Amino acid sequence: MPTIRVTDGRGKARVDAFYASAGRRTRSALAERVVIAEEHGCIVGVVRLCEEEGHCVLRTMFVKEALRGKGLGVLMLKAFEPLVQGRDCYCLSFDHLTTFYGQIGFVSIPKESAPDHLRERLEANLRKGDKMLVMLRPACLARHEDLSGMEPTPPASPDTSLRLPTVAEASAFG
Ligand SMILES: CC(C)(COP(=O)(O)OP(=O)(O)OC[C@H]1O[C@@H](n2cnc3c(N)ncnc32)[C@H](O)[C@@H]1OP(=O)(O)O)[C@@H](O)C(=O)NCCC(=O)NCCS
Repeated sequence: MPTIRVTDGRGKARVDAFYASAGRRTRSALAERVVIAEEHGCIVGVVRLCEEEGHCVLRTMFVKEALRGKGLGVLMLKAFEPLVQGRDCYCLSFDHLTTFYGQIGFVSIPKESAPDHLRERLEANLRKGDKMLVMLRPACLARHEDLSGMEPTPPASPDTSLRLPTVAEASAFG
């Protein structure tokens, strides 16, 4: 069963290898915090918290194809949520994933309201034909209600388990 934890740049090599194994050229950065899902010692899902131009950005959410559609992505989002508590957080989302990101409070915003560099990234993706938009999780949001039974404190050290329930415990993973 996948377990979920937060790591920092020390996990970079494994995170980059996971993206590469999925055919992605994404490279994580040492300064980032990363939510990873692991099964049998292997990374099966990643989502990164990036600091860009003074803004907080959720990037490159990815779950191993064989494990998709079973609730793992939502559990990873819920592990990500405390990392951005009290801060505005942006993401570029595919049109079909607005409900998915909405589960931790992201809402679609006009691209004109986005930071310049994100608007430029969005426009580049739209030119390539991707159907995407900008979403924002506002700083004023409280944590998701469903987390009331979980440990609310983000890890004090950079590579500490969040003590979220395992996927089995959360009964959300077939
Ligand atoms: C997007 C992604 C991370 C979701 O992870 P996941 O483990 O499959 O997600 P979950 O099983 O937790 O999905 C929960 C809900 O999200 C929504 N959702 C997830 N993937 C979806 C998709 N491809 N299309 C439409 N809705 C989707 C659904 O509402 C789903 O609920 P449902 O199963 O009751 O329909 C995963 O599909 C993935 O890695 N996709 C490829 C990379 C990608 O597109 N990343 C996002 C970049 S913006």
